[in-house]
Amino acid sequence: MIKPAGSFGFMLILACSFTGLSAARPAVAGTAAGTAYVQDPASSPQRYGCLICHADKRRAYQLGIHSDRGVQCHDCHGGNPTAFETPEAHGGDFRGSLGKLESLEVCSSCHADPDQMRQYGLPADQIAELRTSRHGQLLLDAGNLDAPTCSDCHDPHTTLRPDDARSGVYPTNISATCARCHDDESLMTPYGIPTGQVAEHRHSAHGIALYEDQNFAAPTCIGCHGSHAALPPNVGEISNVCGRCHVNVRRAFDLGPHGRLEGGEAPLGCTDCHSNHDTERVATERIAETCEGCHEAGGAETTLGEEVEQVLRRAASEMESADEAVEELVRRGHEVSDERFRLRAALSEFRRLETLQHTLDLEQMADVERLIASASMDIRGKAEVSAEEKWEHKLFLIPIWFFALGIVFLAGYRLRRLRSETPDVEGTL
Ligand code: HEC
Ligand code: HEC
Ligand code: HEC
Ligand code: HEC
Ligand code: HEC
Ligand code: HEC
Ligand code: HEC
Ligand code: HEC
Ligand code: HEC
Repeated sequence: MIKPAGSFGFMLILACSFTGLSAARPAVAGTAAGTAYVQDPASSPQRYGCLICHADKRRAYQLGIHSDRGVQCHDCHGGNPTAFETPEAHGGDFRGSLGKLESLEVCSSCHADPDQMRQYGLPADQIAELRTSRHGQLLLDAGNLDAPTCSDCHDPHTTLRPDDARSGVYPTNISATCARCHDDESLMTPYGIPTGQVAEHRHSAHGIALYEDQNFAAPTCIGCHGSHAALPPNVGEISNVCGRCHVNVRRAFDLGPHGRLEGGEAPLGCTDCHSNHDTERVATERIAETCEGCHEAGGAETTLGEEVEQVLRRAASEMESADEAVEELVRRGHEVSDERFRLRAALSEFRRLETLQHTLDLEQMADVERLIASASMDIRGKAEVSAEEKWEHKLFLIPIWFFALGIVFLAGYRLRRLRSETPDVEGTL
C-alpha cells in the first residue's frame, strides 16, 4: 500500500482509486498494432509514481505517441518516478511545469538530434526552422513569451502525429491552433498585426475547398507560411508560393506584362488581384474594373482589360448555349453521349482560357475562343437539326390525321345510312 504524502496527496490517491485508475489498463488504445510497449510506464502504473498521483495527465498521455515510444514523464519533467511520496518524487532534477524556453529545450533534446530521429524517418529541423521565423526570433532572440513554443502548437501530453485527425496540427485544425493567438486582438495590437485571417481564410475559395469539399490540396495557414518557419511571403515571393500549386496559372502569368516586370518596378503578385486570406477568383464581369484599380480609366491597359473581359464573356455565353442545346436534345429523347463528350472537351478549353487570360495576350486567347465557339456551334447545330426533324415529323403526320378523320367521318355516315335503311321493328312486336 502506498503511503499518502500528506492530506492533499491522500485526497489525490483517493480520487485515483474512485476513478479506477490505479488498476492496470491495457496500454494505449487505438495505436499501431504490433508496437512493443515494454517501456511504457502506463502498462505498469503501480511502479511509476507520477502516474498514480497525476491521473488526469496519465489519461492524456496514454492517447499520445510519446507513450508508445517510451518517452516518459521524467524525460521531460525530471524527478524520481519510483518514489511514491511527493518530496522524493519531486526531488533531484525535478523541473516542475515547463516554461516556454524550457519546453523548447526539452523537446529539442530529442527532436533536434538527427541520430535519434532518423529511425522514425522524422526531420530534426523544427527548432532550426523555428529560429528563422518571426515566432522564433521573438522567443529566442528577444525572450518574449508572447511567441509560441513547441508545446503551444503540440499538446505535450497528448502528442499526436500531424496526420491524426485529433491533432491540433491536422490540416482542418491548424487554423484554430494559430487562431488562439492570431485572433486575440490584445495580443496582436502591440505588434501592429491585424487579426481575422482565420475567418477570412475559412470563407475563401481555399477554405471552402478545404472545409466543405474536404480537398486537402487546398492550403491551410501553413500551405503559404510554412509551419515552423512561419513568415509572410514577401512581395517578390508571392507568385512562387501560389505557383507551387497553380502551376499553369503561374506559367501564363509569367508570360504576361505583369510577370515580366523588371528593374526598379515592384513586381505584381497574385494577391494584388486575388487577396491573400480571402482568396477568390475575380468575377468575369469585374475584370476591366480590376485593371482600373491601378491603371488609368480609358487608357491602353484598361481597354485591353475590357477586351479580355469580352472574350471571356463571349466564351461563357457559348458554353451556356451549348449546355442548353444538350439539355434540349435530352428532352427530345436523343442519345447525347457524343455531344456530352464535345461539351466536356469545350469545358476544358474554357478552363484553359480562364488560365490563359493571365497572359493578357488577346491573340492566344482568340485561338482558344475559336475552339470553344466551334464546339458550341456543332452542338447547337445538332439541336437545330433535331428541332427541324421534329417539325417535319409533325408535317408528315398531317395526311395521317386527315386520313383518320376521313375514316371516322365515313364510318359515321355509314352508320346513319344503316340506321335509316333498317325497318322499324318496334311496331311489329
Ligand atoms: C504522491 C503524489 C505525487 C507523485 C508521486 C508525483 N506528483 Fe507531481 N504533483 C503532486 C502534487 C500534489 C502536485 C501539486 C499540485 C499542483 O501544484 O498542481 C504536483 C505537481 C506536479 C507538477 C506541477 C508543478 C508546478 O510547478 O506547477 C508537475 C510537472 C509534476 N507534479 C510532475 C510529476 C512527475 C514528473 C512525477 C514523477 C516523477 C510526479 N509529479 C510525481 C503529486 C505527486
Ligand atoms: C514530451 C514532454 C512531456 C512529457 C512526456 C510529459 N510532460 Fe508534463 N508538461 C510538459 C510541458 C511542456 C508542460 C508545460 C505546460 C504546457 O505547455 O502544457 C507540462 C506540464 C505539466 C504539468 C503542470 C501543468 C498542468 O497542465 O497541470 C503537470 C502536472 C505535468 N506536466 C505532469 C506530467 C505527467 C504526470 C506526465 C507523465 C504522464 C507528463 N507530464 C509527461 C511536457 C511533458
Ligand atoms: C525523449 C525524447 C523525446 C522528447 C523529450 C520529445 N519527443 Fe516528441 N517524439 C519522440 C519520439 C521517439 C517520437 C515518435 C516518432 C515516431 O514514432 O514517429 C516523437 C514524436 C513526436 C511528434 C509526432 C511526430 C510524428 O509525425 O510522428 C511530435 C509532434 C512531437 N514528438 C513533439 C514533441 C514536443 C512538442 C516535445 C516537447 C514538449 C517532444 N516531442 C519531446 C521523442 C521525444
Ligand atoms: C506555430 C506552431 C508550431 C510550433 C511553434 C511548432 N510546431 Fe511542430 N508542427 C506544426 C505544424 C502545423 C506541423 C505539421 C506540419 C505539416 O503537416 O506539414 C508540425 C509538425 C511537427 C512534427 C512532425 C514532423 C514535421 O517536421 O513535420 C514534429 C516532430 C514537430 N512539429 C515538432 C516540433 C518541435 C520540436 C517544436 C519546437 C521546436 C515545434 N514542433 C514547434 C506547428 C508548430
Ligand atoms: C502563442 C501565440 C501564437 C501562436 C499559437 C501562433 N502565433 Fe504567429 N505570431 C505570434 C506573435 C506574438 C507574432 C508577432 C511576431 C512579431 O511581429 O514580432 C506572430 C507573428 C506571425 C507571423 C508574422 C506576421 C508579420 O507580419 O510579421 C506569421 C506569418 C504568423 N505569426 C503565422 C502563424 C501561423 C501560421 C500560426 C499557426 C501555425 C501561428 N502564427 C501561431 C504568436 C503566435
Ligand atoms: C493562400 C496563401 C495564404 C494562406 C492560406 C494564409 N496566408 Fe497569411 N499571408 C499570406 C500572404 C501572401 C501574406 C502577406 C501579405 C502582405 O504582405 O501584404 C500573409 C500575411 C499574414 C500575416 C501578417 C499580417 C497580415 O494579415 O498581413 C499573418 C499574421 C498571417 N498571414 C496569418 C495567417 C493565418 C493564421 C492563416 C490561416 C488561417 C493564413 N495566414 C493563411 C498568404 C496566406
Ligand atoms: C497548397 C496548394 C495551394 C497554394 C499554395 C495556393 N492554392 Fe489556390 N487553390 C488550391 C486549391 C486546391 C484550390 C481549389 C481548386 C478548385 O476548387 O478547383 C485553389 C483555389 C484557388 C482559387 C479559386 C479558383 C476557382 O476556380 O474558383 C484562386 C483564385 C486561388 N486558389 C488563388 C491562389 C493564390 C492567389 C495563391 C497564393 C497567394 C494560392 N491560390 C495558393 C491550392 C493552392
Ligand atoms: C495591382 C496593380 C495592377 C493591376 C490590378 C493591374 N495592373 Fe497592369 N501593371 C501594373 C504595373 C505596376 C505595371 C508596370 C508599370 C506600368 O507599365 O504601368 C503594369 C503594366 C501593365 C501592362 C504593360 C504596360 C507597358 O507599357 O508595358 C499592361 C498591358 C497591363 N499592365 C495591363 C493590365 C490589365 C489588362 C489589367 C487588368 C486585367 C491590369 N494591368 C491590372 C499594375 C497593375
Ligand atoms: C491582374 C489581375 C490578376 C492577377 C495579378 C492574377 N490573376 Fe488570377 N485571375 C484573374 C482574373 C480576372 C481571373 C478570372 C478569369 C475568369 O474566369 O473570368 C483569374 C482567375 C484565377 C484562377 C481561377 C481560374 C483558373 O485558371 O484556375 C486562379 C486559380 C488564379 N486566377 C490564380 C492566380 C495566381 C496563382 C496568380 C499569380 C501567379 C494570379 N492568379 C494573378 C486576375 C488576376
